[in-house]
Amino acid sequence: MNYRQALSEILATHTNLQWDELLPTIENPADPKLGHMAFPCFRLAKELKKAPPAIAAELTEKIAQSPPQWLGEVKATGPYVNFFFNRTAFAGDVLNEVLSKGEKYGASGIGSGKNVVMDYSSPNIAKPLHVGHLGSTIIGLSLDRIYRFLGYNVTSINHLGDWGTQFGKLIVAYLKWGSKEEIEQTGIEGLVSLYVRFHDEADKDPTLDDEARGWVVKLQDGDEEGLALWRWFIDLSLAEYERMYKLMGVSFDLYRGESYYNDKLDAAVELIRKKGLLEESDGAQIVNLEAYNMPPCLILRSDGGTLYATRDIAAAIDRQEKFNFDLCLYVTGLDQILHFSQFFKVLERMDYPWAKGLAHVPYGMLRFEQGKLSTRRGNVIKAEDLVNEAIAKTKAIIEEKNPNLEDKDAVAQQVGIGALIFNKLYTNRIKDTVFNWDLMLNFDGETGPYVQYSHARACSVLKKARYDNNHTFDPALLTEDEAFDVLRIIYDFPSKIEDAAVKYEPFMIARQLVALAQAFNAYYHHHIILVEDEKLRQSRLALVAAVQLQLEIGLKLLGMSAPAAM
Ligand code: ARG
Repeated sequence: MNYRQALSEILATHTNLQWDELLPTIENPADPKLGHMAFPCFRLAKELKKAPPAIAAELTEKIAQSPPQWLGEVKATGPYVNFFFNRTAFAGDVLNEVLSKGEKYGASGIGSGKNVVMDYSSPNIAKPLHVGHLGSTIIGLSLDRIYRFLGYNVTSINHLGDWGTQFGKLIVAYLKWGSKEEIEQTGIEGLVSLYVRFHDEADKDPTLDDEARGWVVKLQDGDEEGLALWRWFIDLSLAEYERMYKLMGVSFDLYRGESYYNDKLDAAVELIRKKGLLEESDGAQIVNLEAYNMPPCLILRSDGGTLYATRDIAAAIDRQEKFNFDLCLYVTGLDQILHFSQFFKVLERMDYPWAKGLAHVPYGMLRFEQGKLSTRRGNVIKAEDLVNEAIAKTKAIIEEKNPNLEDKDAVAQQVGIGALIFNKLYTNRIKDTVFNWDLMLNFDGETGPYVQYSHARACSVLKKARYDNNHTFDPALLTEDEAFDVLRIIYDFPSKIEDAAVKYEPFMIARQLVALAQAFNAYYHHHIILVEDEKLRQSRLALVAAVQLQLEIGLKLLGMSAPAAM
């Protein structure tokens, strides 16, 4: 049952506003002692020429004359009409809904018939997946799962950085100083060393740069030797990325790197030109964006070479043709905000109506306290090092807390990676995330392990009771403050998931998960679940089952696992 809507409908019969106008004005009081939902009367004051408290008192009286069965009490407090639910009806309603829908609880289907393209992770070939891409992978994975859950038709694309001048340099360096065996062994790390060496040597010998440029031209012209090396670099890199993706449970519908758009660039440039948007500037071709307070968007370099933006424009057009998207999301660090604003604007000025469906989802950096990270090597922090360290640290905690746990390694992996994910998703996307192992691995803090631990606790209670999921309960036995708190959070969960989708903010789910875990733990401490009384025990178990389900749904939407024991 939608309480917010039901309240709006009642209020509509007593005011001259429509229920859907009233709906967004209904509030959730921060302190449930004041009311479970509240209606502020300020808006009516002008029209009715009365003070809000007087209006609140009148409305309260009218509603109290024939209250619906689910309404426990209605009370005027100052300018607010405060509503208290009938706890028994509420408990019955929420539990029935969750337990009957199961893992589909909250899967509203608002996305049905809508196509979403998601571009995330997108590392650059021959370079390690660094912490920046880890952020994109984590946020992208969560949004990917959230959108699929809500019924959107999602296509996930890994837009690999697999084209550009760096490949000419890499080929030169490999042919001069590399060996197949060595690179096969060292992978990306070996490629990075070659690349670094190239720059060192080219400082002394500038003809190397000419050679590299020569290879870029050859690649463009389809030179077999060059392309074979290039493909090999890609394969080596992908093998390493995939190791990470597998650990994190990430999989892409498509790997479509920048090179995929090579044969679509001329056509894209032509389209821009035909629209009369292309201008020459110092030999280069640009789109002037002065009117939008942005520097020009570079389309062609003076040597005719294309740029990052050119490729993104061609890619967007191609994605629209192939996937007919309603929404195309790009998850990258906030240092790319200008890039996305620029090429979005170019597409908008090309009069593509679908350009309004393009959205950049930027996020803040992962900040490290100096010296706190033992994996720090050079200045690139590799995602893989971070993930491995998270797993190792978690393993040590498990060894200490629960040495007899089965499958310790698997759980350490789920919890260690979960801690990293949760840490990134617990704050507003745009904020920097401060990295602190002790905080993020604290089983009692506002952390991934805490939520997973609470979930495992629910599982263990159900297991101990041999709970058979027949879900018979008496809602009148679930009206204590602590039970009511749990139920309210579960009741709100679906709307938080939708908010998270609309705002591209998984943290709204992460917060709700912590609130639920806390409320559940409070319930658990105040009320013995496995009591003698059969009816009471079954009822309490049904509540625990609902908590377990909700925590599992939420964790999975963040891209985490929900182990049954830890
Ligand atoms: N490869 C880019 C980078 O590492 C990210 C690509 C994001 N996606 C896009 N379509 N531009 O910064």
